[in-house]
Amino acid sequence: MADTYDVVIIGGGPGGYNCAIRAGQLGLKTAIIEKRGKLGGTCLNVGCIPSKALLHASELFDAAKNQFAGLGIKTGKVELDLKAMMGQKDDAVEGLTQGVEFLMKKNKVDYIKGFGKITGPGKVEVDGKTLTTKNIVIATGSEPSTLPNIEIDEERVVTNTGALALKEVPKKLILIGAGVIGLELGSVWSRLGSEVTVIEYLDRIMPGADNEIAKEAQRVFKKQGLEFRLGMKVTGVEKLKTKLKLSMEPAKGGDQEVLEADAVIVAVGRRPYTEGLGLEVVGGKTDKRGVIETTDHFKVAEGVWAIGDCIAGPMLAHKAEDDGAAVAELIAGKAGHVDYDLVPSVVYTNPEIAWVGKTEEQLKEAGIEYKKGKFPFQANSRARTNHETIGFVKILADAKTDRILGAHMMGVGVGEMIHEICVAMEFGAASEDVARTCHAHPTLSEAVRQAAMGVEGWTMQM
Ligand code: NAI
Repeated sequence: MADTYDVVIIGGGPGGYNCAIRAGQLGLKTAIIEKRGKLGGTCLNVGCIPSKALLHASELFDAAKNQFAGLGIKTGKVELDLKAMMGQKDDAVEGLTQGVEFLMKKNKVDYIKGFGKITGPGKVEVDGKTLTTKNIVIATGSEPSTLPNIEIDEERVVTNTGALALKEVPKKLILIGAGVIGLELGSVWSRLGSEVTVIEYLDRIMPGADNEIAKEAQRVFKKQGLEFRLGMKVTGVEKLKTKLKLSMEPAKGGDQEVLEADAVIVAVGRRPYTEGLGLEVVGGKTDKRGVIETTDHFKVAEGVWAIGDCIAGPMLAHKAEDDGAAVAELIAGKAGHVDYDLVPSVVYTNPEIAWVGKTEEQLKEAGIEYKKGKFPFQANSRARTNHETIGFVKILADAKTDRILGAHMMGVGVGEMIHEICVAMEFGAASEDVARTCHAHPTLSEAVRQAAMGVEGWTMQM
């Protein structure tokens, strides 16, 4: 292990480990410090990856139970083996965390297990040992926000961590927060047999998503069995011997209501995690939400940088990855930059929801004139053959220049299809560029092309 580094990264999540890989590739002597005992951060250990393993398995379970017969496939009685389902999820996580450790070795990055604390400019202490470095990169991520009068035990009243490891299927499950976590985990447990109620403070689901998509999504999830209570404020959860009693009242004021549940998942957002980091010794500051203040190019102070969930911008693993690579490039004297307008969002429900760029509401608010093309999967031949016709693609383009400003999709596979628009927007494409690009037939992606044609009013297959 070196005595002096070019870069010491605190935090081994997607931001930190991608920064380490890029720094290693660029020949910088790099160390990464992680306190969890495993690399990969929230995403790999208790977030994106395990949730996708459960979303996939529960989707197949649901298909076997409810859809196979319609496709002419006979099965015996379809039963759930929750222990095995959790086991394959743990295997996926284990394999991937080991993969990240391998990538550290491959790129000659020192992986140091322990809690990293900044003790001065160019100095980071890990469990009593001081590392000296030219650059410190803070990649400490975020932690779940909590609510007053709710005590998390990760057994019955849980965050995303406990929700991915419940030992049995709760009969009645309440989710607090109709954001991304609420919808994804609500879908998993509903498919596995729970009666799910989602309570949301606002009068809509998925704040941040385009309104038209959010409305359609709520209708579809309701049909799938999720009950929504919008405009409700949770005031507490009382733990009885076998049951939980959740109290709530209308957000605008009114009578209290009590709901019973077997488990409650709290998913009301996340906040930056900077506890005990020693940010102040290098003059680092946080705003009132705990977000570390940086320049546009990730700088906190001379030789101190911050990336990912603990700074401004969307709290998403892929945004953190891009921040990490950009900072490594800046440290190496190159031009690192991330355009937060082009960070896609994907909600991995069934069907998926995905978007990039501006929503209609944002364009209206900014007074930007736009044109809109929309195409339903109901009219897409591949979606029809697959019996997966829910949802639509919507493309928004500048009324004068035709430059694409945003795309919003709901449908099977849109989490992959959104990247066509990300690439187009990265190159400053017009909707006509997408409309005139040949798309294979029959594919779901043809819906993207047809929506792009719709911007100029020449959708052909509807
Ligand atoms: P979120 O910010 O997406 O949603 C939280 C929801 O809780 C909001 O709708 C909010 O209005 C509501 N809420 C807040 N206080 C409330 C209260 N007292 N009572 C009722 N509702 C209340 O946050 P979420 O779902 O916890 O996710 C955390 C972060 O993780 C987000 O930044 C999200 O983007 C990210 N994430 C991303 C995923 C993906 O990209 N597929 C998957 C899971 C999480």
